[in-house]
Amino acid sequence: MARRIRIAPSILSARFDRLGDQVLEAERAGADLLHIDVMDGHFVPNLTMGPALVKAIRPLTKVPFDAHLMVTHPQTFVKAFADAGADDLTVHVESEHDVRATIRAIRDEGVAPGVVVNPATPLEKAAPFLPLVDLLLVMTVHPGFAGQSFRQDVVPKIREARAFIDREDLECDLEVDGGIKVDTAPIVAEAGADILVSGSGIFPDRVAENLRALREAAERGAKGRG
Ligand code: DX5
Ligand code: ZN
Repeated sequence: MARRIRIAPSILSARFDRLGDQVLEAERAGADLLHIDVMDGHFVPNLTMGPALVKAIRPLTKVPFDAHLMVTHPQTFVKAFADAGADDLTVHVESEHDVRATIRAIRDEGVAPGVVVNPATPLEKAAPFLPLVDLLLVMTVHPGFAGQSFRQDVVPKIREARAFIDREDLECDLEVDGGIKVDTAPIVAEAGADILVSGSGIFPDRVAENLRALREAAERGAKGRG
């Protein structure tokens, strides 16, 4: 049976002057998760949102919050994001930390841990952690900004990750992030992704229409899996 594809709109592309409304629009449109891009101006050359923002929008919706930490020292922020109401926290293997210890700290806070790999990082760097996490996030753009083009060269790594997770029978979802739109959603779904993040493909206008089109495109791709 084809696995159910989940869609995670990234609020990085939402209109910040009416963020609360945009969160509700995404919820009404059937978002499975809300993706929250946290950038520290150091790990990536951009600054975005922190725990205070997560805390502010937490009461608005029951949709789970998927917090993507693009920061140099993720271990520093685990408790703050857990307290603010994140449901999962994904941390880059390229950040400066003891990845195992950070995963454990996230789990100890009652939050689902995940690891992230940049386009240039091979799956081998994340593989040792996959039995310990609930989520593997494969970046399909170089992190830092919304609205970049999907990197086709990452598709083999998505396939490789799918094969690894299935072969090892791991309880680890496979998420992809960056440049996911109606044209690229079928490609990543066919390659085995479970969760598709999309920022500029969903926000800020016609959220429901965009989300529906993205889901249909992804389901078409998922059916194509042998
Ligand atoms: C990129 C972020 C993404 C971004 C995706 O650094 O991690 O989550 O918001 O935006 P789109 O879908 O526009 O590439
Ligand atoms: Zn992201």
